[in-house]
Amino acid sequence: MNPLREDRQRSWDAASKEMSGCLRCHLSRSRNHVVIYRGSPTPKLLFLGEAPGAEEDRLGVPFVGRAGKTLSAAIARLGLTEDEYGITNVIMCRPEANVFDRKAATACTDWLRLKLHLLDPRFVVTLGDNALHALLPEVGRVTEVAGSLLSWEQRPLVPLLHPAATFRRKAYAERWQSDLSRLADWLGKSGRPWSS
Ligand code: URA
Repeated sequence: MNPLREDRQRSWDAASKEMSGCLRCHLSRSRNHVVIYRGSPTPKLLFLGEAPGAEEDRLGVPFVGRAGKTLSAAIARLGLTEDEYGITNVIMCRPEANVFDRKAATACTDWLRLKLHLLDPRFVVTLGDNALHALLPEVGRVTEVAGSLLSWEQRPLVPLLHPAATFRRKAYAERWQSDLSRLADWLGKSGRPWSS
């Protein structure tokens, strides 16, 4: 491993240890696990979701429940290899009744910044309104901008609907597929954007 990577891995391990014991908000009282991250230690593309659900809280791993299956199918369709991507959430502890919790999101902001800094992805895909607005608070609703190419800190960012939205309405399931096709084009037509 090169020294820079080694240094970053050490910083990640130290940060993960701190995050696992986080007591910064009320969700620390009800959670089973702090759900930090899964994926490559050096992801080129980072998926950012909203908050863990019951299955994620039980296992301590993001997107392993029903929405996770939809996300996995999307990842397969995009042809991403294991070393190319990672998955995290804005909030790392399960909110009660699975309702996105703004207080918890505020308490998790510094952790999110730290994760983004240490993982340093070349490309970001946000999942749902709350993930999009955690990075780009000034843009419109996700339904207005999903599938378009935006930018966050000099990197391309593509917002998608939340995968769970596809269970709620047929129109969202169709939109998910068409936005995914556009994302696949950006990621595939002239080689991976991070290879150039
Ligand atoms: N929904 C999310 O936003 N994140 C998860 O980890 C699971 C479901």
